[in-house]
Amino acid sequence: MTLNSKLAKLFNEQINNEMSSSYIYLAMAAWFEQTPYSGFASWMFNQSREESMHALKFYQYVVDRDAAVVLQPIAKPKADYKSPIDVFEHSLKQEQKVTQQINELFEVAEQVKDHASKNLLLWFLNEQMEEEKTVRDMLDRLKLAGNDSASLLVLDGEAAKRNGAGGGASGANGAA
Ligand SMILES: [Fe+2]
Ligand SMILES: [Fe+2]
Repeated sequence: MTLNSKLAKLFNEQINNEMSSSYIYLAMAAWFEQTPYSGFASWMFNQSREESMHALKFYQYVVDRDAAVVLQPIAKPKADYKSPIDVFEHSLKQEQKVTQQINELFEVAEQVKDHASKNLLLWFLNEQMEEEKTVRDMLDRLKLAGNDSASLLVLDGEAAKRNGAGGGASGANGAA
C-alpha cells in the first residue's frame, strides 16, 4: 500500500522536526560544556544523538513505504540559556511540542486507516511519554536544589550516569 500523500508530507516534516530537536539538544550540550556541569553536557549530547536516531527511523520508514524523502533546512538552535533549570524547561517544552506533532501524525494515520503507520507512531508516542517524564523528573529536582551547589553537583553526577541506560541509540533501535 502506497503512503497517503498527506501522511508522506507529515512524515517528511517529522524527519526535519527530529533533526531540529537533535540540533537544539546539541546546542544545549554545548552550552553546558561552558559550565562546570559535565554530566548535564553529556546528557544533552546523548539526547541529541537519540533525536538523530529518531529522524533516521522516520527516514527509513518513508523509504520502506516507497515514498520520496524530501529534506529541508534545519533551523538555527537557541544557544543562550540562563541556568540549568532554564535549559531543562526548554527541553520539556521541546518534548511536549514533539508529542503534539506525533499525535497529529497519528490522527491522520487513523483517518486514512494506515495501520502500519499507526504502529510506528505508537512506538514514538510511548517514547515521548518516557522522555517527558525523564525531563520533568530532573526539572523537579533541579527546582528543589535551587542555588545549592552541592545538590546541583549531585544531580549533575546522576545526569552523567543516565547515559547509556535509557537513552542513546538503543532507545531508537528497540521496538518497532
Ligand atoms: Fe524524538
Ligand atoms: Fe525527544
